Amino acid sequence: MSDANSKIIPIAKAGNGGDGGSAAHRQLKISVLRYNPQEPSQPPRMQTYPLEEADGMTLFIALNEIREKQDPSLQFDFVCRAGICGSCAMVINGRPTLACRTLTKSLGAEFTLAPLPFFELIGDLSVNTGKWMRGMSERLGGWLHMKEPNPDLRRAEQKMDPDLADKIYELDRCVECGCCVAACGTARMRKDFVGAVGLNRVARFRLDPRDARTDDDYYEVIGDDDGVFGCMSLLACHDVCPKDLPLATQIAFVRRKMVSLGWS
Ligand code: SF4
Ligand code: SF4
Ligand code: FES
Repeated sequence: MSDANSKIIPIAKAGNGGDGGSAAHRQLKISVLRYNPQEPSQPPRMQTYPLEEADGMTLFIALNEIREKQDPSLQFDFVCRAGICGSCAMVINGRPTLACRTLTKSLGAEFTLAPLPFFELIGDLSVNTGKWMRGMSERLGGWLHMKEPNPDLRRAEQKMDPDLADKIYELDRCVECGCCVAACGTARMRKDFVGAVGLNRVARFRLDPRDARTDDDYYEVIGDDDGVFGCMSLLACHDVCPKDLPLATQIAFVRRKMVSLGWS
């Protein structure tokens, strides 16, 4: 079981100017795609902010320094600063990822930031992933559908096989950041596509022995082109997921199960 909470995302895998750690105190030029839907008369534009890099600087630190010292109007979201809340996802040099887990030294001295596509834009780098995630969850019934409708809450906790608990925990690590949806070609074409985050959610509850739903029930919600059959399997979602969730395996598994139901 991997634990991506403990690592900083190595965004500069290739070709984006990472220089391996000798980059302290560079003069950065951070270009941000700016647009405020509340001010439609101002067209979208790139705005470049100069900033002196500091040791261990993350994009969370860099953006806050820009907002404090240069431009209080710049909009972006952070809550936890630790890769847990999922609110800081943005497109960094063309790749959706978490800004709070991205070190500036992993990037070139000049880089670009843009909001996640697909989601409702609040302003600049801030998007409303929560609204979309809630809608997706309501469509899928993304919560535990208890076998016992009124369980006795005073009863001792039910035991679960530790290996099964680990498998469920692995999929529960999703932070609903939206990176997988932002990178997904199908989501661009089908606004109701549930995305890898939704398919992962189904995979998680399929595993849970406390959930009353059957594969026929899941087929009702993901057995179409807005569900698992809309997925083109190009796996951009798997490549960008900042929590390293096993999305490729889970999507393939759910698809096999749903295909067998469609033929039966
Ligand atoms: S599956 Fe990964 S990329 Fe998608 S929302 Fe969850 S954590 Fe983010
Ligand atoms: S594999 Fe499917 S869910 Fe993942 S990015 Fe491609 S189309 Fe989207
Ligand atoms: S601020 Fe919470 S994940 Fe980045």
